[in-house]
Amino acid sequence: MHHFRYVGQRLHCEEVDLATLARLHGTPAYVYSAATMADNFTRLVRGLAGLDLRICYACKANSNLAVLRHCANLGTAFDLVSGGELRRVQAAGGNVGASVFAGVGKSEAEIQLGLEAGVYSFHVESEPELDRLNRLAGRLGVRAPVAIRINPDVDAHTHAKITTGRSENKFGIPLQFAAAAYAAAARYPHLRLRGVQMHIGSQLTRVEPFVEAVQKVLPLVRQLQRDHAIEYFSLGGGIGIVYPDALASGNAAWWDAQPEGGRPLTPESYGAALRPLLAPLGLKILLEPGRYLVGNAGVLLTRVEYLKRGAERNFLIVDAGMNDLVRPAMYDAYHEVVPVQRDPARPALTADIVGPVCESGDCFARDRTLPEVGEGELLAFLSAGAYGYAMASRYNTRPLPAEVLVAGARSELIHARDTFESMIAGERIPGFLKG
Ligand code: LLP
Repeated sequence: MHHFRYVGQRLHCEEVDLATLARLHGTPAYVYSAATMADNFTRLVRGLAGLDLRICYACKANSNLAVLRHCANLGTAFDLVSGGELRRVQAAGGNVGASVFAGVGKSEAEIQLGLEAGVYSFHVESEPELDRLNRLAGRLGVRAPVAIRINPDVDAHTHAKITTGRSENKFGIPLQFAAAAYAAAARYPHLRLRGVQMHIGSQLTRVEPFVEAVQKVLPLVRQLQRDHAIEYFSLGGGIGIVYPDALASGNAAWWDAQPEGGRPLTPESYGAALRPLLAPLGLKILLEPGRYLVGNAGVLLTRVEYLKRGAERNFLIVDAGMNDLVRPAMYDAYHEVVPVQRDPARPALTADIVGPVCESGDCFARDRTLPEVGEGELLAFLSAGAYGYAMASRYNTRPLPAEVLVAGARSELIHARDTFESMIAGERIPGFLKG
């Protein structure tokens, strides 16, 4: 469920007209719905009721300070993957002490920051990292809380660039080496074994890979409970959202009309499949959802610059580019595109929806059919709340877009669009180039 709906013929985010936000803040702009994030959080918690659950929001998905604060207010901890994310969570007033620090390449400075901030646990991905963590903890006179990330070697059936749980991926320690890695970790004087972690990929739309991975890892988990008295099991993130028909998916009846198998992975089906495996352990269960919490809570608002009618195809050229939303170019991702002002009388138009960036890859959708729109009209790319702004860049010296948060009838700019000055602020022309 999400809170982007037509009120009359105008697309709204909660009670706010998106055309009004475009006028106030310009385009391209990301608009997020606070109520959608809250609903997603509540639904996930309910779906896993009966477990001792901690949600660690994977803030890589959307790390705007306001989004982090909203999640913290809802009661999430955080999954952090850099010193920068840790400092963001601190700046937003989030609970770092309940949060986990992940990542294959933690630097010494990042580990030190995590130790000083007192993170709940480090998710360690290699033997050399155990060694580094032990050394730095010793230097600070503390014991570092640790879980080892296990790579269960399962096929997540997702895009190759976002699958992580196969043995050929760089992530985690293979299951067959895990017991030895824990035994080695237990010998370090400055480490304290606290849990076990896995994450098999992102945007999973079926529950079976999760079940398979948990089943594979369970014997190890039980052994770690006996041998090292671990207190938690983190299943990582990865719950997918359905990008096609995202607007329709806000309507439960629409889903009910879908044939079996056409339904998305839901927190209810995820919980129903995993609860029987997890509850008997009596461990704290951590989830690290990113996309599930914020993906369908955001849209990218863009304005049509030109409708260019070609010999072979039509091009709808919009003012957002691959630098603003890279997912279609990078993962062939599907985002539904809808007009902000609906007009049932409009004829249909089939076009490639493209941005202004000088690359053929700057294409959001090929051969997409939508009601005909022209110069100056607004479109919304749906399900853009996760890995949208977070992956945006200034390629082509295009300013990073604005971000706006809506809650009910209220809205506020939560990140101003770049200015030319902010884009070049860190740059210098060295003296030796000046005549
Ligand atoms: N935990 C770990 C260890 C992860 O590596 C990730 C995501 C998550 C949790 C959160 O996964 P989620 O619940 O959001 O699926 N940029 C890509 C997605 C990359 C995901 C990387 N890791 C995209 O736009 O699809």
